[in-house]
Amino acid sequence: MIDKNSPIPLYYQLEEHIKDLIEKGDLVPGDALPPEREYAEKYQISRMTVRQAFTQLVNDGYLYRLQGKGTYVADWKIEQPLQGLTSFTEDMKARGLKPGSQLVHFETIPATSQVAKQLAIQEYGPVYEIKRIRLADQIPMAIETNYLSANLIKGLTEQIVNRSLYDYIEGEQNFRINHATQIIESSIADKLEAKYLKIASGAPVMLIQRNTFLQDGTPVEFVKSIYRADRYKFMIQMKR
Ligand code: GLP
Repeated sequence: MIDKNSPIPLYYQLEEHIKDLIEKGDLVPGDALPPEREYAEKYQISRMTVRQAFTQLVNDGYLYRLQGKGTYVADWKIEQPLQGLTSFTEDMKARGLKPGSQLVHFETIPATSQVAKQLAIQEYGPVYEIKRIRLADQIPMAIETNYLSANLIKGLTEQIVNRSLYDYIEGEQNFRINHATQIIESSIADKLEAKYLKIASGAPVMLIQRNTFLQDGTPVEFVKSIYRADRYKFMIQMKR
């Protein structure tokens, strides 16, 4: 498991090994990890190295520590209700997490026929194409690609999309976002998506497509998102 001849740092190898055990379900939320000393003996590495791996996993949300007790496997899948039409920024703040975005791409392009259809505009009409990695407490949760008509939503900039798109649409542009349809499908991360989301290539993800509308039915955004399946679960209340 740990290869001392490898150029890959030992702490990182151990980190990946523990992540693997969590992802395969060999370690489940609430499980206590063996003490640092045991890992150090088992793999013939220093306790410092083990501590470094644990600390990194704690920072990344895989593990948590209980003072004087030990280190445990965390369960922090975000449980996202499907009823409310909320923004990523609102969702994270409601959970006490710090929302963030890493902008991958921001461009005004002529709408393709697919995007034009979704936004009910003319083909080749100007649309913003915005790709952001969405972060919660600096941890990547999702990749979102938004399309918005540049004739409807005016003045979008990189600075604005680094904050909240919904805040801008409602707070600055005075539109009221009214309803949306959302489709959720399962998939696996390709190489680039895995890199952006800091997960293994081939790890499960959820594809979410959202079409959002103003009260009069005008489409305001068309969004394709890729959410980490190890960090998200969806909840809906049902009544019969
Ligand atoms: C969610 C939705 C997106 C929407 C975004 C707006 O993540 N899935 O469709 O564009 O929220 O978030 P914010 O206002 O933080 O930019």
